[in-house]
Amino acid sequence: MIAKIEQLLTEVENMQAENAEALEALRIKYLSKKGVINELMADFRNVPAEMKKEVGMKLNELKNKTQERINSLKEAFDNKETLHNDLDLTRTAYPINIGTRHPLSIVKNEIVDIFARLGFSLAEGPEIEDDWHVFSSMNFAEDHPARDMQDTFFIEAHPDIILRTHTSSVQSRVMEVSQPPIRIICPGRVYRNEAISYRAHCFFHQVEALYVDKNVSFTDLKQALLLFAKEMFGPDTKIRLRPSYFPFTEPSAEMDISCNICGGKGCAFCKHTGWVEILGCGMVDPNVLEANGIDSKIYSGYALGMGIERITNLKYQVKDLRMFSENDIRFLKEFEAAN
Ligand code: DAH
Repeated sequence: MIAKIEQLLTEVENMQAENAEALEALRIKYLSKKGVINELMADFRNVPAEMKKEVGMKLNELKNKTQERINSLKEAFDNKETLHNDLDLTRTAYPINIGTRHPLSIVKNEIVDIFARLGFSLAEGPEIEDDWHVFSSMNFAEDHPARDMQDTFFIEAHPDIILRTHTSSVQSRVMEVSQPPIRIICPGRVYRNEAISYRAHCFFHQVEALYVDKNVSFTDLKQALLLFAKEMFGPDTKIRLRPSYFPFTEPSAEMDISCNICGGKGCAFCKHTGWVEILGCGMVDPNVLEANGIDSKIYSGYALGMGIERITNLKYQVKDLRMFSENDIRFLKEFEAAN
């Protein structure tokens, strides 16, 4: 009898049921009135007295184990069933947290939108560039200090391949494949070999604009600049142009706007001058037109370039440039309203 019980114990331990009916069949086979265990119980009478204790214990063990096994198999079924019952494919999904647009993207889009309204279309170029598009085609003399290792990231094995230091390279990319009228606005990331601090980073963002056509004059440039400044910083904004130098423009200028933080009265941001510099601009140097396949006797143009971080700072006063690339959710959330 012990041997029979032992055999049943292993049978019960390995018992499996495909579905609820199979499980019920097992229950009937082992635990019902006429089941195997009850039959053994009936035989218990015939067990010799000296064996009764041992057999009794084994029999009880078998009964409990069988009950436990059947219970646990049933539980597994029940869980499966509730899962199925809960699966409602028509139920509304949990709301997805969609995050916020990056402040630099917000400002970039605003700049691009303003120029789009003046008829400029979007153009982009590669961040990994060659010397020609970044420097040579833009009229940088061979020994211009901007080519210095300190400013530019070079690739050691290919000194001709660099990370672009400005978006002016896109001017060249567009001019070499098209003829005027050209009216493009080019946002993008640029790289410079600078020590990272709160006021400088090894990468930042610029927007470049280029307009080439017949009879484009400095007046057209100034008009576009004034409109841009008013649209970007409000209708009371004033502009001021100061003569400057860039290899790719002649004449060149830098544009200041009346400080929009103190309204021109003077504050720490504008160093108490009432003015802040926001961009470089000028008439496209004829050498640049010629280098890029455009006849400078027929066409003229203006160009301008600005840093997006700088414009963003004027609008939102972000004191530490590094915040822009840290992706700290708490910082980004502050721009939720501007999205
Ligand atoms: N490329 C210049 C820079 O990175 C900015 C600039 C100045 C762009 C004058 C222009 C321009 O198109 O006309 O500092």
